[in-house]
Amino acid sequence: MVGNHDAGRSLCVLGAGNGNDLDLAALCQRYDRITLVDLDHEALKHLIESQKADSLSRQIEIVGGVDLSGILEEQRESSPGGDLSLERWIERARNPAKPEPLSQYSVVASTCLLTQLIDSVAIGEVQTSSSPTETGSHGKPVSKTGLAERCLAIRDGHLRLLGELVAPGGVIVLITDFVSSDTLPELFDVDERDLGRLCSSAINGGNFFTGANPLVLAHSFKTRSGAETFEVRLAPPWRWQMGNRAFAVTAITTRRNL
Ligand SMILES: C[S@@+](CC[C@H](N)C(=O)[O-])C[C@H]1O[C@@H](n2cnc3c(N)ncnc32)[C@H](O)[C@@H]1O
Repeated sequence: MVGNHDAGRSLCVLGAGNGNDLDLAALCQRYDRITLVDLDHEALKHLIESQKADSLSRQIEIVGGVDLSGILEEQRESSPGGDLSLERWIERARNPAKPEPLSQYSVVASTCLLTQLIDSVAIGEVQTSSSPTETGSHGKPVSKTGLAERCLAIRDGHLRLLGELVAPGGVIVLITDFVSSDTLPELFDVDERDLGRLCSSAINGGNFFTGANPLVLAHSFKTRSGAETFEVRLAPPWRWQMGNRAFAVTAITTRRNL
């Protein structure tokens, strides 16, 4: 599915990072303009170097040092006084400003960024609280205070941002990991043919990262992305081995109305 609006054949990749999951040469065959966005500017530079994409530089723009949660700066400024109330935090996280250099694109892809945002911004923030702690879905000790609300606010804000970045008639591809071998060790050796069944049963049993339930994400696009969408598709899950952990990953694809 490729959008056909005056955004041309443009692609914006959020959380492009080191681009282990991107083939820039192939993407340049398909898109006239590619914008790679990440908090980590060095990772984007490394991506260009490692894929020898210098020759493609007229097509590729890198936008590094951009916080896509929209809340990191305010969160930093509020420390150590911690004067950013939970209500204000949630309000800000639900409504991230569209980063200045970004426009609208015929395709916007979020590449395993959502759980990073939730993990580093929502869970990381709550960890600084003095409330009792427990182990979160990413294996870190986290406080319970406001945790679920923060995670869901980041999720809703990310969907809203995707809706704002996609041009009318364009396509959103939200690729996200949703459970890991920490809580689903069968991910290491399940037969590929049984992966869908394993993941369905994990989701039905509530075993997924807070804010990354694929069924809820797919449903949310219809109601919360900030732009009307239709034709939501959920790809069968695939396995992503990262160090000594395995993740189940899916892609949710939707097209914005003209
Ligand atoms: C799991 S990686 C994505 C994988 C990436 N496509 C790759 O192959 O390297 C998540 C990316 O999200 C970026 N990230 C984390 N927090 C961010 C934030 N607040 N704003 C923008 N990017 C962020 C990280 O720098 C990292 O590159």
